[in-house]
Amino acid sequence: MIQVENLKKEFLQGQERIKVLKNVSLQIQKGEFVAIMGPSGSGKSTLLQLLGGLDIPTEGDIIINQHYLNRMTEKKRTIFRRQNIGFVFQNYQLLSNLNVEENIAFPLHADGTLTKDKKQAVLQLLNSVGLKGLGQKKANLLSGGQQQRVAIARALVSNPAVLLADEPTGNLDRNTAEDILGLMTRFNRDYNQTIIMVTHDIFAAGFADRIILFKDGIVDQVISRKDEDYAKYVANFMA
Ligand SMILES: Nc1ncnc2c1ncn2[C@@H]1O[C@H](COP(=O)(O)OP(=O)(O)O)[C@@H](O)[C@H]1O
Ligand SMILES: [Mg+2]
Repeated sequence: MIQVENLKKEFLQGQERIKVLKNVSLQIQKGEFVAIMGPSGSGKSTLLQLLGGLDIPTEGDIIINQHYLNRMTEKKRTIFRRQNIGFVFQNYQLLSNLNVEENIAFPLHADGTLTKDKKQAVLQLLNSVGLKGLGQKKANLLSGGQQQRVAIARALVSNPAVLLADEPTGNLDRNTAEDILGLMTRFNRDYNQTIIMVTHDIFAAGFADRIILFKDGIVDQVISRKDEDYAKYVANFMA
């Protein structure tokens, strides 16, 4: 469903060219929950931005459901992103002066007025992220874990082909992180939601079906839950 082919990304820093992604190829199937791991500065966020069409690669292709993201005009890419990609960030990025329901509904306004169906979808998501009854509460009055639940609901409200999460548990304590990861796992299992999560935390990565390990701008290792040594690999990492 998602194909990344010979992806390269360079940034200009003054006169210097920094090669962040050197040659990345990978494939992700519909309904997979994939974790991308790697040290700080290894290009994880850059890759996620490219996957979400927020930036374009220097070379290579990103193909989502047969659509070449990098060959679209910027306008087309924006529309494609709105309809097909959900984003979750480490710092939630909610609109603090809006209430919970308004935050979840926010992406829907881009496609016109809120129909009854859409309002229903917002309420349903509010329930399924475990925030029933909190719809009218201002976002900035919520705990970190609750804010991330709102962010996940907002990311999923357009029923996107893929959910991209950049360090979604990076600001949360272990118990709250586990709740959020459990929630993501539930959307993955129950709705076959494709999820790509960037993390440098092996505990978080351990929730994924597949871990893609990044190093120096290339894919260093891929390990799947089906692999015999997955558990050993994760345990080793944690040790
Ligand atoms: N817009 C940009 N301009 C210049 N350099 C950038 C830009 N975005 C990222 N970088 C550089 O690319 C490298 C990888 O960054 P990033 O993808 O954020 O890494 P990670 O998420 O793995 O920590 C870093 O050295 C960072 O400074
Ligand atoms: Mg990052």
